[in-house]
Amino acid sequence: MKNPAFQVSILAGWAIACLCAAQEAPSPASGPAPVPAPLRPAFLLTAAVHRDGEELSGRWTYSRDLYRTGLTDINGWVAKSRMQRFRDIDIAASERRGGTDFFEFDLDRGPAMAIPGAWNAREPELRYYDGLIWFQRKFNAAPRPGRRAFLRFEAVNYRAWVYVNGKEAGRHEGGFTPFVVEVTNLLREGENRLTVGADSSHDAKSIPTPITDWDLYGGITRPVRLVWTPATFIDDATLSLGTDGRITGEVRLQGPHAAKQKAEIAIGTLASVSAVTDKDGRAAIDLPAPGALRRWTPDQPTLYDVRVTAAGDLLRERMGFRTIAVRGKELLLNGEPLFLRGISLHEEEFGPNPARDMTAPQARALLHEIKHGLHGNYVRLSHYPHSETTLRLADEMGLLVWSEIPVYWTVDWDNPAVLRKALAMQAETVYRDRNRAAVILWSVGNETPVSGPRTRFHAAMADNVRALDPTRLVSAALLVERRSAGGKAVMAIQDPLVDKLDVLAVNTYAGWYGADTLDALAGLDWQLPADRPLVLSEFGADALAGYRSGDRRKFTEQYQADYYRATLAMAGRMPTLAGLSPWILKDFRSPRREHPVFQNGWNRKGLLSETGVRKEAFGVLADYYRRKANQGGH
Ligand code: GCU
Repeated sequence: MKNPAFQVSILAGWAIACLCAAQEAPSPASGPAPVPAPLRPAFLLTAAVHRDGEELSGRWTYSRDLYRTGLTDINGWVAKSRMQRFRDIDIAASERRGGTDFFEFDLDRGPAMAIPGAWNAREPELRYYDGLIWFQRKFNAAPRPGRRAFLRFEAVNYRAWVYVNGKEAGRHEGGFTPFVVEVTNLLREGENRLTVGADSSHDAKSIPTPITDWDLYGGITRPVRLVWTPATFIDDATLSLGTDGRITGEVRLQGPHAAKQKAEIAIGTLASVSAVTDKDGRAAIDLPAPGALRRWTPDQPTLYDVRVTAAGDLLRERMGFRTIAVRGKELLLNGEPLFLRGISLHEEEFGPNPARDMTAPQARALLHEIKHGLHGNYVRLSHYPHSETTLRLADEMGLLVWSEIPVYWTVDWDNPAVLRKALAMQAETVYRDRNRAAVILWSVGNETPVSGPRTRFHAAMADNVRALDPTRLVSAALLVERRSAGGKAVMAIQDPLVDKLDVLAVNTYAGWYGADTLDALAGLDWQLPADRPLVLSEFGADALAGYRSGDRRKFTEQYQADYYRATLAMAGRMPTLAGLSPWILKDFRSPRREHPVFQNGWNRKGLLSETGVRKEAFGVLADYYRRKANQGGH
């Protein structure tokens, strides 16, 4: 018997922690109303990896809580002390004192697993566990006079409750974006107890909703960092190069002395500029691009050390400078025509039992196959924000990036609270990645069937992301409409959302799903808006690595290779084509793929097997991209 009052307090709690600047929900009468000013998380701690602090990775103890007793037994229905796993109690010590207290958990003596990483891969009995698990990590961090302390979580899938020494520090919803909680007043001398309730379950109001074509991956899937700052500190700084040849941006201070502070930004040894913060601690930055500034390109991914100083604090960032724009059906990088030689990628490391533990070597191994194996210059990071490690490596290695949040297939379109979640996820993503030159496209959705509420929802997201970041392009992976003209099949985009997009993108599986033969596929015609660039954001066919047969049937490597040849021939006849991101670089886990011979829980559309074995189609795409790259332009 759940206590309704409690339910209300949870929702209120969410709004405070993850939305911070929440506005009143608009009435649902005519679907979501126009979006208010972009939401901004209370703290960003931009470039946290370069800040004073320590990673809390390692062995964390855990306690399963399938019936959520650790959360629900607040009103003493069941003696709360027995179940509330976040309590700050040394149970073993109390038992040594005669065990008068009675507990049905003990995270000090519980089993442990390596964090970050998803529990589904860490413990065999948790392979298909979908629910709540409590984690504990002890650390020594005595309070420091004049300093503030924060915990920054890069990602907890899907909901998180954070307690320090038994006191709540914050909560968050969203499995792929960072959040920061302040713990300055919660720390103590000696050993501190950090307890995190991680809940992987999704529902009709979550983003994404429960059914996707990727695996569960519950838990603390990315690093947790304890960060120290001065009382007044630089929370965020951003810069970008405009097509007008000027570098603009801002510095944001937080703290008692954030106003009227001189903020100085230096771009390597090329230039430096200063500005004074306003009453909100914000300083606007604007300078002409230095003559010697090298524009970032995939071939020459020049990054500069950017140093920001203000109020005695220092923020270090590594940034590249480039412009991205459209001109009719053309994509322009630094004013030059660009063709995106890409591939799609899920956040899943190589190996037979991935834990979504994307370390730098693992991310580099994947991106290296795109850049040097496929001769690619672009990657679609699907269907959610990937780890910051991957984004920073794309910057460093020279791979352009499509970034999206998991508004995938369907969400509760007409629900204002769900829209606010999507807008908050966008904000968390943009604030985290807007200093990455590699990121050129923000996508607002994937394969969502056209309807009024859906289009209004996406339109609000497009407006939001433009308000958050007017320097990048907006897109979405749209569904194709199949028509017949003169007895021939014609593929077309019939979607009112196109008016909101700078770059159109479509997913097509003709030749794999459905009856089209590969010969028919090569001859398929496309009716496309002529005034905008188009990306083929997905196409693909399953192949089990090593499976070959004389008749080149489906699931063989030969069929996949033939399918790529036919689709690339078709793509070559699409007049506004500006890029490709076939589905997908590597086989990935999906509970929707249970063919006992060819799939066994893996989507086999990878050009690489899960362990990195190249399939025949890998060579087909690599040859196509090598020829494209030799044709000049970016
Ligand atoms: C869809 C979807 C992917 C999915 C793919 C497939 O287009 O966007 O997430 O994995 O098709 O069917 O393999």
